[in-house]
Order: sequence, then structure tokens, then C-alpha cells
Amino acid sequence: MQIIRRVDRLRSAVSLLRRQGGEVALVPTMGALHAGHMQLVREAKQRADHVVASIFVNPMQFGANEDLDAYPRQEEADAAMLSEAGVAILWAPDVDQVYPAGFATNVSVAGVSDGLCGAARPGHFDGVATIVAKLFNQVQPDMALFGEKDYQQLAVIRTMARDLNFGLDIIGVPTVRDADGLALSSRNAYLTSEQRAAAAMLPRAMQAGIAVIEAGGPVGEATRGIEQALLAAGFASVDYVTLADAATLQPMEIADRPARLLVAARIGSTRLIDNMPVNAR
Ligand code: PAF
Repeated sequence: MQIIRRVDRLRSAVSLLRRQGGEVALVPTMGALHAGHMQLVREAKQRADHVVASIFVNPMQFGANEDLDAYPRQEEADAAMLSEAGVAILWAPDVDQVYPAGFATNVSVAGVSDGLCGAARPGHFDGVATIVAKLFNQVQPDMALFGEKDYQQLAVIRTMARDLNFGLDIIGVPTVRDADGLALSSRNAYLTSEQRAAAAMLPRAMQAGIAVIEAGGPVGEATRGIEQALLAAGFASVDYVTLADAATLQPMEIADRPARLLVAARIGSTRLIDNMPVNAR
């Protein structure tokens, strides 16, 4: 696996891969890789002939109150995992290759970026859309893979890729879960063992709520039930429990088309998010 830090070298390496024939897949990450990221790589290997993974901790998607410096960085260990998994190129750009002096461009995807996590993290999805647009232009892949765990991010990226004619496939990969159903996340490492046990209520309460909605019960009753179950299990607060249109993320009162149940809640000071599909009646 080649580790590349400059755009000109990336361009030559990708065109060399293209000359060998076949498709190129991109797996964008911020590093600190876990089994969820490696599932993206496995899926990319199945769909494409060459896989490029990127690691870049993107300052533009961190808010003023979010600690960019504390974000885990373990490039050597990440590179070993990616190489072992058969990734051809690790694109780990120097900061000036992403944000050259005088950088002045912002990619903003209205609507889908605004509610849910966008409301709690103003500017976050502009930062995500801008870096992902840059990665698409730098690598020029045939497809890019993102986890459904960050469902709003995936919806923002799908909308941006469609609106700006990026001409690549955006592939959402189902969330990888622990045996008790908790979605894998680098944030799970911040939980004490007591909090980790209580966190299993998140997927359980969501499944119970979805059963109510899919049986035709009132959406409000189901979302209130999830909130109450989380608080009773020891969650400190619930940011949102929302049934939303699967594509636009507009809130829905009735599950009459493909929908997603999305939840964000805090356990101690750790904010966990999860989402699951809800079948239309
Ligand atoms: O999901 C992430 O790790 C990041 O938001 C992404 C897509 C790599 C952009 O920095």
C-alpha cells in the first residue's frame, strides 16, 4: 500500500491504477479505524478493483466547542489495518493539500443539513460536504462508501453528489453492531462499563418504537416511549427522537413512505447517535 500526502503524487498513482483497468472505490475516514470502517473497506473490495482510503481529520467539520486536538490519531496502526485489508493507496494529505493558504470555498447543502445533528452542530455538515467534495475531486473515484451509522451525513453527501453532478456512486453500508445491538462508534470507548451496559437500551428502545410505528401506532407515542426508556435506563438527556423521510430527512408524522428513525442521546457526557429503517405501511 502506498501512503501519499501530495495531490500531484495521488493523481499519478490513481491514473496508474486506472491503466491497470477496473473501477476505483474511495473510503473516506478521519482515522482511528474500528470494525465499522473495515466493513466499508471490505465492501469496497467486493465492488471495485482498486480501493483508495483516506485519513484526514478535517478541522472544518469541528465546532468551536469540539476538541479537534483531542480527536484520536493513530495513523501507523490505521495504515497497518488498511494495508492488511488490501487497500492500494492511503491518501493522508498534508493540511496544505486540502486547505491551501487563502482557501475560501464552502459547500453547503441546504435542508438536509439543517435539522437533527445539524441543529446541534452548526456548520458541521458544511465542513463535511466541503471536504468530501474535495476528496471526490482529488481521487476521482467511480464510487465512494460511507456508513449508514452517520445517516444524516450520508444524506447530505448523496444530495451534494447529485446536485453537483459528481458522477460517482454513493454507497451506504449498513451499521455494524456489537452483539447487544449497540452501533460501533469510536465514542463507545468513552463509556464506563456501567454506561456501556445501559447504552444497549438505545437499539432496544428503537426497535420497540419501530414495532409500534410499523403496527400502525401513533408516531408521537412511539418516540415518547423511546425517550422515556432511555432516560429510565440512565441516559442523561435525549437530543432528538425523530421519524424522518429516508431521503430528505423531513420529519414525518405518519410512516406512509420509506422512513428512518433517528436518535441522538447523551449518556454521561458522551453523545450517541443511531438510526434504523422503518417500513412504510
Ligand atoms: O465520517 C467521517 O469520518 C467524516 O465525516 C468524513 C466523511 C471522512 C469527512 O471528513
